[in-house]
Amino acid sequence: MASDRKLRIGVVGGGFGASFHFHEHPLAEVVAVSDLLPDRRQHLKERYRCDTAYDSLEELIRHEPLDAVAVFSGAPDHVRQSVAVMEHGKHCFCAVPAATTLEECALLVATKERTGMRYMMAETSYYRVDAITARRLHDDGAFGELMYSEVEYYHPLIGAEGDALSFADGERTWRYGLPPQLYPTHSTGFLVGVTGERLVKVSCAGTLSGDRGHSDNVYGSPFSNECAVFITDQGHICRSNVMWNVWNHGERAQWMGTDCSLFAEGWSGQPFAIRPMEGEPQMTPAEYTHLLPREMRYDTGHGGSHPFLTHEFVSAVIEDREPAVDVYEAVAMTAPGIVAHESALRDGEQLPVPSFDPTPREE
Ligand SMILES: NC(=O)c1ccc[n+]([C@@H]2O[C@H](COP(=O)([O-])OP(=O)(O)OC[C@H]3O[C@@H](n4cnc5c(N)ncnc54)[C@H](O)[C@@H]3O)[C@@H](O)[C@H]2O)c1
Repeated sequence: MASDRKLRIGVVGGGFGASFHFHEHPLAEVVAVSDLLPDRRQHLKERYRCDTAYDSLEELIRHEPLDAVAVFSGAPDHVRQSVAVMEHGKHCFCAVPAATTLEECALLVATKERTGMRYMMAETSYYRVDAITARRLHDDGAFGELMYSEVEYYHPLIGAEGDALSFADGERTWRYGLPPQLYPTHSTGFLVGVTGERLVKVSCAGTLSGDRGHSDNVYGSPFSNECAVFITDQGHICRSNVMWNVWNHGERAQWMGTDCSLFAEGWSGQPFAIRPMEGEPQMTPAEYTHLLPREMRYDTGHGGSHPFLTHEFVSAVIEDREPAVDVYEAVAMTAPGIVAHESALRDGEQLPVPSFDPTPREE
């Protein structure tokens, strides 16, 4: 697109979607917002200093002078809405996960390829300091061979009868009973987003909670915790937890190579540590905010990742290139969890994860 004007963005979804920075980016502006709920519409207008609001995404995408739409609706709506956005000739920035079924993964990739629009998934793990550091160590070859990773996301109570996020106005929301591995990307993103590897086989175990949320839900899922063991296309092991029913918090990883390991800071008290085979450990994480436009250099939610995600999407569209977490990376982080949940339902049977990459895949 022409770089002599700002990228015109519409923002949909006034919960999590009200915590981004499009209005602060020097090359972007929010020209319209939408939520089904009037109070959330108002919140979005105030947050993004935008006067134009629509009652729904479907109305907003008919608003012609838009270049891109940021979709922050519930997970089961993502593909239908991302497809509608791209079909209307707008670039799409979408919250995680990219999809909740393999059929949706295929439809998302096919739509992006057919329309030629840009698509980026807003995976917050990708721009946590630990992940940026791990990516740099990997690209420099410092890990040696990265044999094993432990990637994990813990959020107590999600999907349970007592979870505030699983209800709105007394009605169940999409989070009620959500199978943990249908929300896999905060974990898988720590490997796929660091090495570009693909998770090709999985065996997964789930635990039963006894909570009504995990016995009577639209997903037909009994599990409140799921632990997946993936094998990658390079023969490495990735242990990937997504758990709603343990007392632990946060998104975290540790990467173990033959020459060096990186341990992210954790709620347990584990400090950040890079431990090379040769030389001294490094116990202080690097600082990357200088990579952002000056207006956006301040700490925000999810490990300071929101300004990085905003900046990458805006830059990719303006520079006419694919963004960092493009449709193939997004689906490579999402589909393995969908198959992992299926494996848990089949008592841990090891299953293959289909590829949605073009052949041959571009490195
Ligand atoms: N760290 C992270 O990356 C992170 C954190 C929180 C949430 N999320 C993701 O962000 C998304 C939003 O999360 P949330 O907690 O705000 O969810 P939510 O269910 O509270 O809010 C979704 C909003 O989308 C609106 N919406 C749905 N369909 C619409 C339509 N057709 N037109 C206009 N508005 C519509 C709803 O009215 C609702 O207000 C989810 O997909 C979630 O997975 C990601």
